Amino acid sequence: YLLNSSRSKKSTSLTDLPSTMASSSPLLIRGGTVVNDDEMLKADVLIENGLIKTVGPNLDAPSGAQIVDATGKLVIPGGIDPHTHMQLPFMGEVAVDDFEKGTQAAVAGGTTMIIDFVIPTKDSTPIKAYKQWREWADPKVCCDYALSMAITTWNENVAKEMEIVTGDDYGINSFKFFLAYKGVFMVRDEEFYQGMIQCAKVGALARVHAENGSVIEEKAKELLAKGITGPEGHTQSRPEELEAEATNRACVLASQANCPLYVVHVMSKGAARAIAHHRQKGAVIFGEPIAAGLATDGSHYYNKDWLHAARYVLSPPLSRDSTTPNALMDLLAAGELHLTATDNCTFNCRQKLAGKDDFTKIPNGVNGVEDRMSVVWEKGVHSGKIDPMRFVAITSSVAAKIFHCYPRKGRIAVGSDADVVVWNPEASRIISKDTHHHAVDFNIFEGMEVHGVADVTISRGKIVWENGQLKTVSGSGRFIPLKPWSPTVFSTIAQRAKMIQPRGVQREAPQDLPEEVEKLS
Ligand code: URP
Ligand code: ZN
Ligand code: ZN
Ligand code: ZN
Repeated sequence: YLLNSSRSKKSTSLTDLPSTMASSSPLLIRGGTVVNDDEMLKADVLIENGLIKTVGPNLDAPSGAQIVDATGKLVIPGGIDPHTHMQLPFMGEVAVDDFEKGTQAAVAGGTTMIIDFVIPTKDSTPIKAYKQWREWADPKVCCDYALSMAITTWNENVAKEMEIVTGDDYGINSFKFFLAYKGVFMVRDEEFYQGMIQCAKVGALARVHAENGSVIEEKAKELLAKGITGPEGHTQSRPEELEAEATNRACVLASQANCPLYVVHVMSKGAARAIAHHRQKGAVIFGEPIAAGLATDGSHYYNKDWLHAARYVLSPPLSRDSTTPNALMDLLAAGELHLTATDNCTFNCRQKLAGKDDFTKIPNGVNGVEDRMSVVWEKGVHSGKIDPMRFVAITSSVAAKIFHCYPRKGRIAVGSDADVVVWNPEASRIISKDTHHHAVDFNIFEGMEVHGVADVTISRGKIVWENGQLKTVSGSGRFIPLKPWSPTVFSTIAQRAKMIQPRGVQREAPQDLPEEVEKLS
């Protein structure tokens, strides 16, 4: 409503706007059903100054208020995608969805916050990399965002900087460890273990990319030597068993470090089973399947068209078991997996071609941030597996709780940030690269019909998506600092730390050594 809709695909910079636009008029969302993770009720939602002011039946519109009609629709907390890689420099390329295009795609699909990853190269430092990511993101983001940080090397300085960046000035409360990408991002088990001890000390969640990078490297060499150079080599060099092995190992090491663990991109049944096994033993572990893994499978790697196959290359790969996507959704329904993300990390045709003679050089990553909400609705709610409250939980509230920004995010409640979506459960759309809002020239969900569409997306009280048009302003999103010691993550861990102190035994010093010992000395 602020910007001419013909400009919707472009984004105006904050400084181009007249100052009157800085404060927005009140917004009244009328006639909808408010859905939180634990309730559904008919209520209007009044938004003022970027916050939810009132939730209740038949609210009066303040003067000058803009009315959004939500009759027959759901009013849900905006989606939170806790795993994206906008403009990530990776495998010699830079992901094409930058913080502007990536967040535009997000809001077009009903996501109003992303958590992206600072990934320091092995020769950089956490703080240097952090500053770089803020510089990239702040002027571009069209919705709120937060940061998680990868630990790609281990030394005293890294440990020290982990403590610094969990402070208020930086706002990091999770660290990710790669057990893949050997020589680039991968850490060894002892580094991972030390890193998790440090996480537990500073109140941060450990996140893990669970694959066996060393064995993958060996298998890739074997396949290349046998002349398998195409994308089918990608999946064959990364068997699901290796994802399950690394997931199990990560769970074991997290228990040894008494550190909470979050497994990113759970792609296979074996990995999910490993998580369930350790949770049953009381471990604090969260499992995150991604949109790609819930809606597609690894058959694409065997497509005759090289480029088609390469488009689906991500790690861990899509499962070659065609029943995996449904199984992952069943686990989300059952509470064995906990929230959904996308791992949005997009490379276009030219970039994927870097690996035309060698699958190990195909930049890894796929789209998802725009379509996740609809894909989860389709596979979860439309299919009859979960209710709208569980949908809100696995697309928004659980992420807000884990990452310690609840109920500011992830809930429709008085005082919460007005990141709100008017969700149309009846509407459907066909996903296509021709209509999506990504920078990438392909969509892994091409042709899929999804029920459940974001009609209106509101970010901090302003409409950023309406009538199929973007109304975003680049740089209008804010950085959300995340505090350590999330209660959802740390309550049991902190109590256990007290219970599992190493125990010594007090003994009298022996007066006289026994005779047998004396003889020996
Ligand atoms: O293939 C993937 N997943 N690319 C993004 C980086 C990562 O591993 O998360
Ligand atoms: Zn990963
Ligand atoms: Zn990732
Ligand atoms: Zn359907």
